[in-house]
Amino acid sequence: MRVLGLETTCDETAAAVVSLRADGRGEIEANEVLSQIAEHSAYGGVVPEIAARAHVEVIDRLVGRAMDRAGIGFADLDGIAAAAGPGLIGGVLIGLTTAKGLSLVTGKPLLAVNHLEGHALTARLTDGIGFPYLLLLASGGHTQLVAVRGVGDYVRLGTTVDDAIGEAFDKVAKLLGLGYPGGPEVEREAGRGDPERFDLPRPMLGRPEPNFSLSGLKTALRMEAERIAPLTQTDIADLCASFQAAVVDVVVDRTRVALRGFRDIAGPPAALVVAGGVAANQTIRRGLERLAGEAGLRMLAPPLPLCGDNGAIIAWAGLERLR
Ligand code: KG4
Ligand code: ZN
Repeated sequence: MRVLGLETTCDETAAAVVSLRADGRGEIEANEVLSQIAEHSAYGGVVPEIAARAHVEVIDRLVGRAMDRAGIGFADLDGIAAAAGPGLIGGVLIGLTTAKGLSLVTGKPLLAVNHLEGHALTARLTDGIGFPYLLLLASGGHTQLVAVRGVGDYVRLGTTVDDAIGEAFDKVAKLLGLGYPGGPEVEREAGRGDPERFDLPRPMLGRPEPNFSLSGLKTALRMEAERIAPLTQTDIADLCASFQAAVVDVVVDRTRVALRGFRDIAGPPAALVVAGGVAANQTIRRGLERLAGEAGLRMLAPPLPLCGDNGAIIAWAGLERLR
């Protein structure tokens, strides 16, 4: 079984070919990703109109490149998948319409994939784990704790009531004059800063529902920054380290609460899985590894190139649906 997957919901144009191996895991035969970061960075965020135009300019060439890299023709595919949302509508239309066109011409089934399902099933592509598992999905647009019970069988245990975690990293970066996307920049600064210098709040800590709130933390950081301005390099590093430490505490606490509720609705979890762009953060990963260790669970995080948006996770989700 082999599926072509297209991803165009945000600022990556991506096409990939994934096939099913005999051991149940996926094999990535091609994974072409074109980032638009350079086109958006002057604006400090993704500009939907620029994104849509950039997708439409490269999508067909990128599909060709993925097919060449995999060394296959359209006849060798069993399905054509595209992320059908959620996302910026201009981008979604381009990926989905391209997939529909290819599906019509080749007669192969079209697989409309929810972008979040792509992130949710990545650990099965890479590690072949069984259901059920607890997923922390943390990206620029979403922060959710989900009980993954099967393909298409998801129970959301918690979510953010305001900003997504990645969004909070991006906003903090912007506030401190760092580049976009903010996550990697804040993590780099945090690496040389003092996480205890600023006593920032841990919103939602100890609450019985595993929800998140990030906007108050971001505001507290802004007030500290304004209080001590003008900022030195050390101030920026210390602010980033203190912010990241607060986020890790919140993430670990919220995930611990979700693990408690998990058993009642899904039985014993096979693993704790983290996915989405924020899963690239090493300090957050270490916090979750500690938590998984306490609970006697495996912690799985996709390899870095599969944390962010890409076509392989969409192709794999399409393949799981087709199967
Ligand atoms: O999954 P993704 O590539 O796109 C969305 O679907 O949003 O996630 C991108 C988000 C951005 O907000 C980015 O700042 C964040 O993931 N991110 C990070 C790190 N790398 C990327 N956040 C914290 N630490 C990182 N190392
Ligand atoms: Zn994503």
